[in-house]
Amino acid sequence: MRVLVVDHPLVAHKLTVLRDRETSSPVFRLLTEELVTLLAYEATREVRVETVSIRTPVTSTEGVGLVKPTPLVVPILRAGLGMLEGMTRLVPTAEVGFLGMARNEETLEAITYAERLPDDLTGRQVFVLDPMLATGGTLREAIKFLFARGAADITCICLLAAPEGLATLQEELDGRNVTIVLASIDEKLDEKSYIVPGLGDAGDRLYGVVG
Ligand code: URA
Repeated sequence: MRVLVVDHPLVAHKLTVLRDRETSSPVFRLLTEELVTLLAYEATREVRVETVSIRTPVTSTEGVGLVKPTPLVVPILRAGLGMLEGMTRLVPTAEVGFLGMARNEETLEAITYAERLPDDLTGRQVFVLDPMLATGGTLREAIKFLFARGAADITCICLLAAPEGLATLQEELDGRNVTIVLASIDEKLDEKSYIVPGLGDAGDRLYGVVG
């Protein structure tokens, strides 16, 4: 498993505004999309391309095109949905599947409550979107699920991670073809498994609190 923290002043600036408790939901949504586009630029460095021949108005030449089937993007519902637009802006031909996962706030175990994905992901390059890598439980289950369907390599784009969650994934996914792309590795988890300093509940900040 590889971990890449994107070191760029605009990423740091946008993340700072996201962290600010005074930032409203509409601004939070917009900034999340912008931030994901910047992270996706780094996360797609290994996206599979092939040589294609084209004609410019002047001559024939060769360039590159995305290999088919194009990458599969999988936002983890609910908060990952806020990252989808930022990702598809960069890779508009990507296919999109959905995985609904939530954590049981008492046991902190991840449960899958919805799934809309191709049955066979053999050889596919998959990009998972989940803003907060806290305990790592949700991502671990999502990654296992996608590998079980045949995914070849998985890149997870997250806004923040806690060292504890990264360590869990590192331990359990060592040797697997997984890359985690992040804007920051924060200090720690608190007693309720929120990331510190973090940005609070990403789903609530994107979409408001639901009962
Ligand atoms: N999920 C969130 O939305 N925020 C955290 O800090 C941890 C998990």
